[in-house]
Amino acid sequence: MSFLTVFQRGIAMFKPLQIAPSILSADFMHLADDIALMERAGAALVHVDVMDGHFVPNLTMGVPIIRQLRKATDLPLDVHLMIENPLRQLDWFLQAGCHVVTVHAETLYGAELDQAVDRIVEAGCLPALALRPRTPVEVLAPVIGRLHMVLVMSVEPGFSGQRYHEGSELKVAAVARMARAVGNHDLLIEVDGGIGPATVGLVAAAGADVMVCGSAFFDAADPARALAEVRERGDAARLAALQGQEGPQGFSGPKGGAACR
Ligand code: DX5
Ligand code: ZN
Repeated sequence: MSFLTVFQRGIAMFKPLQIAPSILSADFMHLADDIALMERAGAALVHVDVMDGHFVPNLTMGVPIIRQLRKATDLPLDVHLMIENPLRQLDWFLQAGCHVVTVHAETLYGAELDQAVDRIVEAGCLPALALRPRTPVEVLAPVIGRLHMVLVMSVEPGFSGQRYHEGSELKVAAVARMARAVGNHDLLIEVDGGIGPATVGLVAAAGADVMVCGSAFFDAADPARALAEVRERGDAARLAALQGQEGPQGFSGPKGGAACR
């Protein structure tokens, strides 16, 4: 294949990265201002970290905040449930105005995994499954064919501002391979934890589509500039991967999943 063909194929398949700032790093006394800042900066989603103090040590926000967010913005809400028993509380979240609902694989046993996906889909939300850094990708097998998104945690869940776990990009590549193997070519892969200008290229080249940015966005002197930089670096890495400069473990390009809205 000629260089021009490879180049054209890369351009044709290319879908820009989506950036999802995490409001865990926002100023809660001025949350509306921070949401407006995210909109102006070109965020694709609002990432909402729900923590219960059991599944993770931290305790953050819940349904009342999600209801308020739904009224405050048209951006889709990407709700990351870090709670011990999601099936018990899922209905509250499904009725609160979430767009994507992410449950953790480690909180669901046996048939519960299918039940959680069924309930999210029946409620008209998009189902996603998250994996802690030590959770193997094989746990995705029963449901990966009908997931909207897989969230690869690149830090231990619980806190923003942690350092990216090296090697998380290999897990992203493994999820991308699994999705291709079952024919779920629209599956989005989101990466959460320690993502910023220095790390986005690694995971984007491996096949990630959605980047959660907490501290890299809200702690930046110019958050809009920071978001643009993350997207530019990530897009450059995706394009290079599509054009044949292979990423980790033979990854040869993102899957070109549909945008969330
Ligand atoms: C951690 C949360 C993350 C966190 C990301 O458990 O799931 O979404 O807010 O923060 P940064 O981008 O600062 O690592
Ligand atoms: Zn998160």
